[in-house]
Amino acid sequence: MADESWRLPNSVQQLAAIVQEPPSQYLLREQEPLGGNLAGTEMPEPIPTIDLGLLSASNDPEEAAKLLSALQTWGFFKVSNHGMETSMMDSVMTASREFFHLPLEEKKKCSNLIDGKHFQVEGYGNDHVRTQDQRLDWSDRLHLTVEPEGGRNLAHWPTHPKSFRDDLHEYALKCKKIKGDILRAMAKILKLDEDCLVNQFNSNAPTFARFNHFPPCPRPDLVLGIKPHADFPALTVLLMDRDVAGLQYLRDGTWYNVPAACDHTLLINIGLTMEIMINGIFTGPVHRVVTNADKERISVAMFYGVDPDHEIGPIAHLLRDEQPARYRKMKAKDLLVAQLEHFSQDRGAQIADACKI
Ligand code: OGA
Ligand code: NI
Repeated sequence: MADESWRLPNSVQQLAAIVQEPPSQYLLREQEPLGGNLAGTEMPEPIPTIDLGLLSASNDPEEAAKLLSALQTWGFFKVSNHGMETSMMDSVMTASREFFHLPLEEKKKCSNLIDGKHFQVEGYGNDHVRTQDQRLDWSDRLHLTVEPEGGRNLAHWPTHPKSFRDDLHEYALKCKKIKGDILRAMAKILKLDEDCLVNQFNSNAPTFARFNHFPPCPRPDLVLGIKPHADFPALTVLLMDRDVAGLQYLRDGTWYNVPAACDHTLLINIGLTMEIMINGIFTGPVHRVVTNADKERISVAMFYGVDPDHEIGPIAHLLRDEQPARYRKMKAKDLLVAQLEHFSQDRGAQIADACKI
């Protein structure tokens, strides 16, 4: 029988502990489509930081202008004064680190492989390996459905550390409020009804938490932590490692480094679903994660998607004769299938173009 072992990815944490050289599936290809220099460039200005409390309480024109400019220029920004206690952010980060530091056998109790071999998105593990030549990312992750609450599969929710489940539950409640504040502010900028964007998310709209662990990598010059991609859901709320940087955004052909931040801000970016809904007025930025030779890095992303059965298409109120729809309508679940396919083939950055009319 043919050797199919390549279908079952290794835990990167385990690999990192034993290899001097990353296996070839992890290495950059000779012709990296979006630039092979992983060092990145410093951003020409500090990341735009929006005072979310001020913006949502009083629609402060200065903060609204900053948000508009950030969305037009970068597609991402930081929020401060967002209403989440700093202790809560620290607890979620600590619980995540403790989970990733558990013995592999313990983490495998939350595995994303059913019976040790059938891949599913949810759980602890790595990406689905679809083809033998697929390039793999230098990261392990835990992917959990957080909302709708009835859709939680607690079998994948860690019981160690003990606070993990409660922390995530509380964190999700606060993040949901932040998501609402941001969507309302964006709707106003777009001159839509205040709740127009919030209303795109019905009671079946999923929220996913993705805990990313990037172990130290012996060849940070040749290996990516996450391949270039635009996030698929509408909005991402990212809690970043306080000490170790690694995230880079692409703008006009240059990769810009996002510095680590210990200021208890949250990083926000819009995703493909939002880009389509707002007819490309703002676009979901392409980003990737690089690795570090000495230090591990941890991040926690909350992804806000729409009901899988919802047909995503440009919102009618944004269309004019001179501004026709630029994207095809597609069910969210079908778009997700297309996106995963693109990502695994190293074409994660091209999916938005594939959706255009
Ligand atoms: C992601 C992602 C960025 C980071 O999980 O989609 O882009 O900094 N993460 O870990
Ligand atoms: Ni991402």
